[in-house]
Amino acid sequence: MPFTTPGAQLKVLIDERQLQQRVKDLGEQISRDYQGKHLHLICILKGACVFLVDLIRHLPVDISIDFMAVSSYANSLHTSGEVKIVKDLDSIIQGREVMIVEDILDTGLTVDYLTRSLRTRAPSSLSICALLSKPTRRIKEVNATYVGFEIPDEFVVGYDLDFAERYRNLPTISVMKKDE
Ligand code: IMP
Ligand code: MG
Repeated sequence: MPFTTPGAQLKVLIDERQLQQRVKDLGEQISRDYQGKHLHLICILKGACVFLVDLIRHLPVDISIDFMAVSSYANSLHTSGEVKIVKDLDSIIQGREVMIVEDILDTGLTVDYLTRSLRTRAPSSLSICALLSKPTRRIKEVNATYVGFEIPDEFVVGYDLDFAERYRNLPTISVMKKDE
């Protein structure tokens, strides 16, 4: 049964096989880098959940996870530039090896804010893992160690990325064009 996508045209940019292969590669890279350590993953709600659950199954290292939610985008195709913490961590990260797991780096404002905020809590290390990046959109430079795919400046949905909370369940990353 095809996915119903009312009000929009979708074009596949990254298919399921490419996604799964890249997530596996990232998992292997992270596992090598954190071998013998305990890694605390911070999943940024809601868009990084599907990425997180796929990624951790390729991390045969000692991990724990926590979740954080920040406000951005507010149901619009354009970022407001405003970031605030809507749900904070349950855990204390002082002295821990911490990794932010994010769906996409766009302007970079969200992850820039998050890294500045989390650094004040004195983790022993803080790295960034993003499934997608749109480098041409950057306003704040972000130093992400792990990036799944660099993509062009197009609005994408699927694999937990949404437009107004829709399309998170698409198994692909697809470019969304609204019907005129
Ligand atoms: P930034 O602060 O501009 O880097 O935006 C990051 C957030 O904006 C991401 O975590 C997404 O929630 C959202 N976002 C940016 N680009 C897209 C997109 O193409 N599709 C869906 N959400 C996006
Ligand atoms: Mg997000």
